[in-house]
Amino acid sequence: MRVCIVGASGKLGRYMIQHCLDRGYEVVGVCREKSVPKLDAFKNRIRIEPGYTNDRGVIKRAVDGCDGVLTVLAPWGVNDYSSGTAQAVMDFAKPGARLVFSCGWHITRDGKDVYSRKFLLFVKLIAWVTRALRLVDLDDQVEACRRIFASNTRWTVVRGSDLEEGESQGLPLWSRHVGDPVLESNLTRRIDFALFMVHALTDDTLVQEAPAIVGCQSPSALEHGARPAV
Ligand SMILES: NC(=O)c1ccc[n+]([C@@H]2O[C@H](COP(=O)([O-])OP(=O)(O)OC[C@H]3O[C@@H](n4cnc5c(N)ncnc54)[C@H](OP(=O)(O)O)[C@@H]3O)[C@@H](O)[C@H]2O)c1
Repeated sequence: MRVCIVGASGKLGRYMIQHCLDRGYEVVGVCREKSVPKLDAFKNRIRIEPGYTNDRGVIKRAVDGCDGVLTVLAPWGVNDYSSGTAQAVMDFAKPGARLVFSCGWHITRDGKDVYSRKFLLFVKLIAWVTRALRLVDLDDQVEACRRIFASNTRWTVVRGSDLEEGESQGLPLWSRHVGDPVLESNLTRRIDFALFMVHALTDDTLVQEAPAIVGCQSPSALEHGARPAV
């Protein structure tokens, strides 16, 4: 299987590269030119396509012939970075390719997620401050996901909880809706977020799903078990 990782040089991206190589997949990574040295550890084991992830020419070359595309949806700047990236991936990936995107719990697919007041206030505050500083545009990540949800591609949008570093605990559990007790702990190891993204490439039950994930060893996962809620 040939897999393109868009946003390969970030923390999540590098974990995803390792999981793909562990499975014997061929990897093409896209990252900004200045971030290429971050991938030195994978030199000669992956192909790198340097450039901004919303550069359509870069994405067209990178996804050519790929069976799967793992995309880190990062809402950087106020130039439609996330939505431009997602659109380019959907436009140029080969028909039938598995497209897996990352975002956070704040993205809702059907409006049925139940958020705590604290969570909503936090997201509002972060969105306002980072947009005022022209650093991050969370609304653009929302727009990117709106386009993905509306597409008829074989997509999965993996919604990450708060993240921590540490050794792998195994594949996270997931639910369709934030608010499900299984997710209550709101914590996943970043390496396992990456594991879930890579796992989704070959799990057809996740096609056109937006799983919200949580660490499989977190207290809420241990207490409430493995069933994805409807
Ligand atoms: N952090 C969290 O707590 C959290 C929680 C839930 C979900 N998520 C989701 O997880 C994914 C990645 O999160 P992460 O925290 O693990 O970050 P990450 O892996 O470090 O990824 C950040 C990505 O953004 C790129 N980037 C950084 N600054 C940039 C800029 N100015 N312009 C363009 N690209 C830039 C990085 O590339 P370079 O190597 O070139 O800098 C990297 O590919 C995102 O989809 C996010 O929504 C994160």
